[in-house]
Amino acid sequence: MKQDLIVILDLGSTKNTVVARAIRDLGVYSEIHPHDITVEELKALKNVKGILLNGGENRVVDGRAVEVRPELYDMGIPMLSIDYPQSRCATQFGEMPDEAALKKFVFEDCGVEANWNMKNFIADQVELIRQQVGDRKVLLALSGGVDSSVVAAMLIKAIGQQLVCVHVNHGLMRKNESESVVKVFRDELHANLIYVDASERFLGKLEDVADPEQKRKIIGGEFIRVFEEEARKLQGIDFLGQGTIYPDIIESGTKTAKMVKSHHNVGGLPEDLKFELVEPLKQLFKDEVRACGVELGLPHDMVYRQPFPGPGLGVRCLGAITRDRLEAVRESDAILREEFAKAGLDKKVWQYFTVVPDFKSVGMKNNARVFEYMVIIRAINTIDAMTASIEKVDWDVLEKITERILAEVENVNRVCYDMSPKPPATIEFE
Ligand code: XMP
Repeated sequence: MKQDLIVILDLGSTKNTVVARAIRDLGVYSEIHPHDITVEELKALKNVKGILLNGGENRVVDGRAVEVRPELYDMGIPMLSIDYPQSRCATQFGEMPDEAALKKFVFEDCGVEANWNMKNFIADQVELIRQQVGDRKVLLALSGGVDSSVVAAMLIKAIGQQLVCVHVNHGLMRKNESESVVKVFRDELHANLIYVDASERFLGKLEDVADPEQKRKIIGGEFIRVFEEEARKLQGIDFLGQGTIYPDIIESGTKTAKMVKSHHNVGGLPEDLKFELVEPLKQLFKDEVRACGVELGLPHDMVYRQPFPGPGLGVRCLGAITRDRLEAVRESDAILREEFAKAGLDKKVWQYFTVVPDFKSVGMKNNARVFEYMVIIRAINTIDAMTASIEKVDWDVLEKITERILAEVENVNRVCYDMSPKPPATIEFE
């Protein structure tokens, strides 16, 4: 392994990611793990040079204080604790240590090198993937979004033709998206790619389902079943590659963090899952995933395009999905993207999309009363998707987009702009 590792144990702090990033900012790789990690599990991580016990607000769960396993103190690995009073830990802080103190622990006490960079990260992941997979085969859910594209590139580098990419068109893709996934990966990157059009199947399962969590679970569960069917046809597939990234894991709830909402590639997995997972990006923040993609040689446009959630337009067609509203989301989204590109906003704004709620409002068209849907525009900026602020889009651009949506999208008579930051709102509506 090329990189030294500092392990952060989650003892209920809400600042795990802040600490992880502070260490990575020193050029040192850090990973966050549950407080009850065992000695064996720690040893399996290889190259662990230091352990940081990160206590805090949520250390008491169901009336019991969470603790690390006492055997960890006998491993001879330097330890530092934050807001976790422990007599057996040599270096202790009541709150987040400043940069100088963190540097002293990392470089002097643990003796690590600043060798965290994407070249080394990729080299280590490639080695880990080869160890895990051996000469067996991996099936990858290739949505064409940033995360799954980067995983595909990583797996192609690690195992080449042992990777079978499956692109499932769940009928919730953006306009022309499936076509372009096939073009880029099959024609240009020569990936072993299977295209499955499962639109009708997904829309059938989602009929009359209005609850957001249930929608996500159905989409996630159905995804896995489609893969299982493909795997059965192919035979000899033991692994499922996934573009899980760190925010997906933390927001689906760790042992001490409360669940925000289940992400389709974590919480939606059915109980009878038949694959072992390969998730080489699960410790990366979104900005790091992009840097990884660039280092892997993916085209800049692909890596820097805005993220798209696994459940696709399904979580933007609010409530029970209907074909007319789904079409309105797809068409308005295409217009928004076209106009943002013309205004140069596609390079500036992190994520932008449209949403169609499941209620109608009164309007006038051709001198007659109409009762139709509304389109909500959302445009936000963020570093790591954990918090976000809105883009103050130029009024003229918004007017142009509004005019086009009202003229070109059927069943719509109103356009609104979402002003809410995250928190309290999440980026998506469901
Ligand atoms: P939220 O809505 O939680 O979104 O603030 C944070 C970021 O994650 C994207 N997102 C998803 N990505 N599977 C994904 O891979 C999902 O189920 C999912 N849900 C949301 C969202 O678009 C935003 O960029």
